[in-house]
Amino acid sequence: MNKKIKFAIIGTGMIAERHAAALAEIPEAELYAVYDRNSVLAESFTEKQGAKVYRTFDELLNDPQLVAVTIATPTGVHKEIAVPCAEAGKHILCEKPLDVTLAKADAIIDACDKNGVYLSAVFQSRFSDRVQLIKTAIETGRFGRLVMCSAQVKWFRSQEYYDSAGWRGTWALDGGGALMNQSIHIIDLLLYLVGEPAMVHAFTGTMTHERLEVEDNACASIKFKNGALGVIEASTSCAPGFPRRLELSGEYGSVTLEDDTITRWQFVDEQPEDEAIRNGSVATTQLKSGASDPRAGSHEGHRRQLLDLITAIKHKQQPSIPGSEGRRAVELICAIYESAKTGRVCRFET
Ligand SMILES: NC(=O)c1ccc[n+]([C@@H]2O[C@H](COP(=O)([O-])OP(=O)(O)OC[C@H]3O[C@@H](n4cnc5c(N)ncnc54)[C@H](O)[C@@H]3O)[C@@H](O)[C@H]2O)c1
Repeated sequence: MNKKIKFAIIGTGMIAERHAAALAEIPEAELYAVYDRNSVLAESFTEKQGAKVYRTFDELLNDPQLVAVTIATPTGVHKEIAVPCAEAGKHILCEKPLDVTLAKADAIIDACDKNGVYLSAVFQSRFSDRVQLIKTAIETGRFGRLVMCSAQVKWFRSQEYYDSAGWRGTWALDGGGALMNQSIHIIDLLLYLVGEPAMVHAFTGTMTHERLEVEDNACASIKFKNGALGVIEASTSCAPGFPRRLELSGEYGSVTLEDDTITRWQFVDEQPEDEAIRNGSVATTQLKSGASDPRAGSHEGHRRQLLDLITAIKHKQQPSIPGSEGRRAVELICAIYESAKTGRVCRFET
C-alpha cells in the first residue's frame, strides 16, 4: 500500500493542532479532512492546516476515501463519535481518556473489535525514549523487586482555563479533574511500568477553583498486585506548576523521571551506559508536557503514536496501545474516585 492513509480529525480545538502538526510530518499519511460540530472552528482550522471540511458527521461516515479518524472532541462524547466511526469501518486514534466511564470505554472497544478496525488509545508519553529505557531496565531485572512506585503531578491551571470551554472540569464531559484530565498520562505510565493495581485508598478535594464540579487536588495510596506500594498526587492548584515526577525504586536501584528528563538513574550494578543516560547524551529527543500551560506540549509523542497506528493498519497488526490498554488508567482513576467518595479501600479483582 503506497497511497497516503487519509485521516480526518474530529474536533478542531486545542489538541487538534498537535495532531495536525504530527500528521504533517508523516509521509505515509495526510490530513485529508476535518469535522467539528462548530463549522466556523473547522473552517478556521483548515485555513491554517488545509484539508476539506465535512458539513455533517454523516458526510464523514459515508466518505469511502476516508481510512482513519482522530477523535479530539471533549472526552464525554468520544463514545458517541467512535462507535459510528467503527461501524463505518474507520480506524481510530482516540484522545485520552477513552471516555469518562468504563462502560463507555468498553462500548468503544467492542465496536472496534466487532467491526475489525484498529483502535489506538492516545498515551503519547509511552513513546518517550526515556520511558522505554526505564521499561527495559525493569524487564531486564535491574530494579530487582519493585518496592516504592509513585507519581506526582503538581500542576497549575488557571480559573480562565476551566472557564475557557463549558466541558472542562465537568463530570459528564471531562470525567473528572486533576486525575482524569491532567494526571492520566502518568497514571498510565505507572500501570505500564509497574503493573496491575490490587487496591487503592484516596482523598480528593476542590480547593482553589470556582464553579468546579470535579477535584483540583487528589492523593491516593496504591498497592500493586506485585506487592509494590506507591502514592499518586494530582493537582491543578500548585502555582506556578512543577514538572511531573515518576519515582520508581526497587531493591537494586531507583529512577526518577521529571517531565521527560531522567534526574536519577542509580543501580547497584552500574553499567557502562548509565553515565550517558544520567547526563542526557542518549535519547536526546524530549517530549514536553504542560505544567502550567496546556498548550506547551510538543507533538513528537503524538507523531510516534500516529506512526504506530499507521504501521498497524498497513501490516494488519494491533497498535501498541490498543483499547484494552487505554481503559486501564480509566479503571484505576474511577476506583480512586469511588474510594474518595466512600472513604473505603477499593479492591481490584484478582
Ligand atoms: N494527549 C494529550 O496530551 C491531550 C492534551 C489536551 C487534550 N487532550 C484530550 O483531547 C480532547 C479534546 O481536548 P481539547 O482541549 O482539544 O478540547 P477543545 O475544547 O479545545 O476542543 C474540542 C473541540 O471539539 C468540538 N466538539 C465538541 N463536541 C463535538 C461533537 N459532538 N462533534 C464534533 N466536534 C465536537 C468543539 O467544538 C471543539 O472545537 C479531550 O479528550 C482531552 O482530554 C489530550
